[in-house]
Amino acid sequence: MPKDNKILKELVKRGYTKKKNQHTWDISDSRFWYLTPELSKGFLNLANYKPYKKVVIDRELLLIKRHTQKIVKFFGHKKFNLIDLGWGKGVKTREFIRHLPKDIRIRYYPIDISSYFIETSVARINSLNSNKVVYIKPFLVDFEEFNEISSILRNNEYQHNLTLLLGETISHYQINEFLFQITQDMLPGDVVVIGNGYRKGKRFVHIEKYKDPIFNDWFIYLMRGLGFKDNEVRYDARFANGRLELFYHILVDKTIKYKGKQIYFRKNDKVIIGAQYKYYPEELQKFCKMYFSEVLFLPDKVGEYCLLVCRKWSRPDSNRGPLPHLDFS
Ligand SMILES: C[S@@+](CC[C@H](N)C(=O)[O-])C[C@H]1O[C@@H](n2cnc3c(N)ncnc32)[C@H](O)[C@@H]1O
Repeated sequence: MPKDNKILKELVKRGYTKKKNQHTWDISDSRFWYLTPELSKGFLNLANYKPYKKVVIDRELLLIKRHTQKIVKFFGHKKFNLIDLGWGKGVKTREFIRHLPKDIRIRYYPIDISSYFIETSVARINSLNSNKVVYIKPFLVDFEEFNEISSILRNNEYQHNLTLLLGETISHYQINEFLFQITQDMLPGDVVVIGNGYRKGKRFVHIEKYKDPIFNDWFIYLMRGLGFKDNEVRYDARFANGRLELFYHILVDKTIKYKGKQIYFRKNDKVIIGAQYKYYPEELQKFCKMYFSEVLFLPDKVGEYCLLVCRKWSRPDSNRGPLPHLDFS
């Protein structure tokens, strides 16, 4: 992959922190993980990685099968816009649609930053051949445009929005900022269904899981995008700063040129390319209750994964801005 200006721009914008002569560059923004077809394929490969498949795919699919009818009853509308925030392969959404009651009618609007996912996902929903789906229109945009899109979708017949935010997507963002943003233009009665893992026992365990080569096979494209050769970096993972961090050790001194600037990397610098926040169920519910009037917590039987069905009735907190992130370090 040639150098990628989007990644380099972000790296320059964010700069580095310095500790004991070592620089740490933090570009842990999950929107970069899907920038190119190679990166998007890297994410899809996780379907072959047992720990991920078992929890984030199989458990979430089970929860969807088990609870879709309950979710729709709770929502209470027979016609609605189904917004899929980060649809990935669309497998879970297909399951959701399959389990909707027969008399439901939806207009389906997937929103995703990755063009690679569009065709397969839309084809997957089309292949259902379901008369529950009356219209499909994908939006190839950043989540930041969610509010604008969610308000233009409403018409007299389809006034209500139900949004899916599945696959632990929210765990890679600052949860309170994310929830604050998406609730800004939601109308009373709108619902968001969040799928996320949760911790029981110790918060930070099993770091080896995140060191599997499957992650390097995925994220090495980001380092190539910065201008590194594969043998100039080494992938690693750690628990630090109250979160899981996925990062690269820089193994050589290197200067990278970007728009007339020179970026100096030194041996032993680190580049953080991903982060994930780990929550206990009470924390997840507490965060959701800060922004939503009603929250249904639907955990799996094993106690690792859950759906949070969040309904907004009023806007009591909409003026107070995102709350500070909790420090789990
Ligand atoms: C972790 S995957 C989850 C995919 C799917 N919902 C699932 O459960 O398998 C995150 C999805 O969100 C998309 N995504 C991540 N950050 C985004 C952003 N800032 N704007 C738009 N899409 C984004 C990715 O392209 C990807 O499809």
